[in-house]
Amino acid sequence: MKEYIDNLNERRKKALPGGGQNRIDSQHSKGKLTARERIGLLMDAGSFEEIGMLVEHRGRDFGMDKEIYLGDGVVTGYGTINGRMVYVFSQDFTVFGGSLSETHAEKICKIMDLALKNGAPVIGLNDSGGARIQEGVVSLGGYADIFYRNTIASGVIPQISAIMGPCAGGAVYSPAITDFTMMVEQTSYMFVTGPNVVKTVTHEDVTSEELGGAQAHASKSGVTHFTYANEVECINGIKKLLSYMPQNCEERAPSYQFEEADESRPKLNDIIPPNPNQPYDIRDIITEIADADSFYEVHKDYADNIVVGFARLGGRSIGIVANQPAVLAGVLDINSSKKGARFVRFCDCFNIPLLTLVDVPGFLPGTDQEWHGIITNGAKLLFAFSEATVPKLTVIVRKAYGGAYDVMNSKHIGADMNYAWPNAEIAVMGAKGAAEIIFKKEIAGAENREEKLKEVIDIYANNFAHPYKAAARGFVDEVIEPSQTRTKLIRAFRMTENKAVKLPRKKHGNIPL
Ligand code: HXC
Repeated sequence: MKEYIDNLNERRKKALPGGGQNRIDSQHSKGKLTARERIGLLMDAGSFEEIGMLVEHRGRDFGMDKEIYLGDGVVTGYGTINGRMVYVFSQDFTVFGGSLSETHAEKICKIMDLALKNGAPVIGLNDSGGARIQEGVVSLGGYADIFYRNTIASGVIPQISAIMGPCAGGAVYSPAITDFTMMVEQTSYMFVTGPNVVKTVTHEDVTSEELGGAQAHASKSGVTHFTYANEVECINGIKKLLSYMPQNCEERAPSYQFEEADESRPKLNDIIPPNPNQPYDIRDIITEIADADSFYEVHKDYADNIVVGFARLGGRSIGIVANQPAVLAGVLDINSSKKGARFVRFCDCFNIPLLTLVDVPGFLPGTDQEWHGIITNGAKLLFAFSEATVPKLTVIVRKAYGGAYDVMNSKHIGADMNYAWPNAEIAVMGAKGAAEIIFKKEIAGAENREEKLKEVIDIYANNFAHPYKAAARGFVDEVIEPSQTRTKLIRAFRMTENKAVKLPRKKHGNIPL
């Protein structure tokens, strides 16, 4: 065997001037690490076991018989991160630009199969020029083999894709199917068709960075959930993200030692501004409620009228979905509904309880929203919350108006405990709009219309702009002092920790896509 490896290494040295060091230097000069350096940073020291190091590509056309590289452009294997098993593949751009051949794909599929059978996350470090051009259809088939496994593994084991270089053409669909995509600023990009094709077809002039760089996908398309300034930060991000998740759908996320003490947070009593139309940052509420420094925001720069992310409460992982009054008054629109729904479904797949913080004036009106499908897209969030069987708690911190009241994890769609702060307003719509409709005649017939309007707004507000009607019906379980929210939630999550709900037998639901 030694002879065989020496022989291969000899061939490799001949094929690559300087034994490949120039390619490694070129990778470093672009601000990128090599495939093995990335694995070295990601895994616990000494834990990585490589699989398929001796694999060679099978392509023999276009001079490919003369260039053979051990491992064929991807390093695959398993090991631990913070003591927990993960499977990983890391594409090696120094070998044929990390392009995906038949055997390169087989190596990735092998570790995906192992991960699925053994119930542990798969992490893909992507840095590839796409399908190996010299291999034709077998490389396309290899991609499809990966996409199929991504789909079958979805909801069974967590899958994370870090994009650390090019990811173009159909290659983008593997990360798209996985649970979370991360990108590195300036050195990674994703697109189905690159700037040249865009120029030919649409006559647009656009750079790779503008078209599919980290910022574009973080803020415009929402394709990436996280962006990082460099690869080291990205790898640390993967480790952090994993810490909130279980290994598979049968397990629970790891929890941390916690002893309940005085969990009251007096600051919460003063966060909501006195004027109900004044914005504030919902993150101020989240950070007070969650365990110290535990909030890890997902999709931070996309649809920021809703905030989603992981946190710990009393040492346990939870997922938080919260309207953001600081942006568009926290209204629900197409993108925020999609963002929320995707996150809720991830948490439900992996037994991560959900906390919903509500301050929502309703759905965003307008032709743009209607014509682009706010009906179908808003329904995604409604469907996701309704279908989720994990423990689900809700706190209405200010407004809960209209259909958005129903959608935001209301009692009616299966929430286990619903709390409201004393200033909460739960109604079909805001007092002014409602009063203008139901007291239309009275206002029109009044001598002083402005005074009359004020009067009827007050009448309506006194009737509906509070949580006590909802509490009287049991739609709100308790009206709580804001400072007590953390205590109440810690106890309610403990109360629901053995929740077991079985949905009717079916192949799968039909979420409005
Ligand atoms: C074979 C490839 C390759 C590929 C790059 N290389 N992409 N070899 N198949 N797809 C090789 C190059 O020939 C070069 O080899 C080395 O990798 C490094 O590439 P460079 O071009 O020198 O690097 P750089 O300037 O950084 O440019 C990177 C790049 C560019 C932007 C990714 O290489 C590129 O455009 N490649 C083609 C991308 C592409 O069109 N792929 C197919 C997408 S369609 P040497 O020996 O010269 O160093 C697709 C379909 C998937 O993927 C469908 C799935 C359903």
